[in-house]
Amino acid sequence: MVIAKLFVVFLLLQMMSGFVFRAKGLSMGYYIMSCPMAELIVRNTVTRALQADPTLAAGLIRMHFHDCFIEGCDASILLDSTKDNTAEKDSPANLSLRGYEVIDAAKAEVEKKCPGVVSCADIVAMASTYAVFAAGGPVYDIPKGRKDGRRSKIEDTRNLPPPTLNASELITMFGQHGFTAQEMVALSGAHTLGVARCSSFKNRLSGTVDPNLDSGFAKQLAKTCSAGDNTEQSFDATRNIFDNVYFNGPQRKAGVLSSDQTLFASARTRNKINAYAFNQAMFFLDFQQAMVKMSTLDVKEGSKGEVRKDCRKIN
Ligand code: HEM
Ligand SMILES: *[C@@H]1O[C@H](CO)[C@@H](O)[C@H](O)[C@H]1NC(C)=O
Ligand SMILES: *[C@@H]1O[C@H](CO)[C@@H](O)[C@H](O)[C@H]1NC(C)=O
Repeated sequence: MVIAKLFVVFLLLQMMSGFVFRAKGLSMGYYIMSCPMAELIVRNTVTRALQADPTLAAGLIRMHFHDCFIEGCDASILLDSTKDNTAEKDSPANLSLRGYEVIDAAKAEVEKKCPGVVSCADIVAMASTYAVFAAGGPVYDIPKGRKDGRRSKIEDTRNLPPPTLNASELITMFGQHGFTAQEMVALSGAHTLGVARCSSFKNRLSGTVDPNLDSGFAKQLAKTCSAGDNTEQSFDATRNIFDNVYFNGPQRKAGVLSSDQTLFASARTRNKINAYAFNQAMFFLDFQQAMVKMSTLDVKEGSKGEVRKDCRKIN
């Protein structure tokens, strides 16, 4: 009986979230009639690329985040600069985004089957879910139907959080996009994959000693930096595996970015770091819910966008 009631609540919640997507013109089965193979094609292309280079999973997940935080999830991040316009991509804040060629390859494959139907924004969003799964994270579905935007300006990248923000600034910035503090911590868990370059954390090593940085770990970071600004430091010991190991870093004063460490320093987010470090299943569940939400940020409907033929150029 209790289980039946819980099930009804679950169904209602599913329907309510479904209404939110549909209000934005999105749905889970968006391509069922127009391009039934779309998801399979994108999944196969992404999975093959990640088998060849597992480090690209990090790049694809981060690409989706940057896309959604600037002008909504509209593939603005993919547009190349033109002679009259410097695109987001060429901002120093592009911070070494990777995986553009995987998106191009997936787009080329879907165009062969159903030309002009599947948006680049949907491909970026789908690719990030396959990347999470391929790296060992949760499997989850996202709604489709995003249109591609026509604007990509270098100055819009100021909407991305710099790694120097403290927890309350991060809470404010993510709050402006409708996320709770808990969702922000869950999303930061994407740093379970990938690396940061020295230039993203060297500010912590000079001047006054950062009280939230373990001295042994500071030496490790300094060693990384001794090889130059572009030298990479893994966020955690398992850079290609989507797990909850990342959360142990801040617990030991060994968060790589100051923005990672600050989540443990602040009483408003510390309990979530501890909870996710303790319970990977809880992290996976919160992460996938927050990612679905992120994937619907400010999506363009109808004539506000288009389906690009080439992900790097507006039509
Ligand atoms: C909470 C605020 C966040 C800040 C301040 C931040 C900042 C950064 C910085 C500075 C880097 C390293 C860039 C470099 O040095 O090349 C990085 C890497 C990364 N970020 Fe974040 N990030 C945040 C949230 C997120 C979110 C929400 C996601 C995805 C859901 C994400 C996914 C990643 C991934 C996967 C990498 C590794 C990229 C690679 O190895 O190529 N980050 N982030
Ligand atoms: C990122 O921006 C720099 C300029 O700051 C540019 O040289 C580089 O090509 C850009 N990276 C990508 C992948 O577009
Ligand atoms: C976070 O940064 C803001 C702006 O620099 C500052 O006003 C605030 O006091 C900081 N909060 C904490 C807890 O350090």
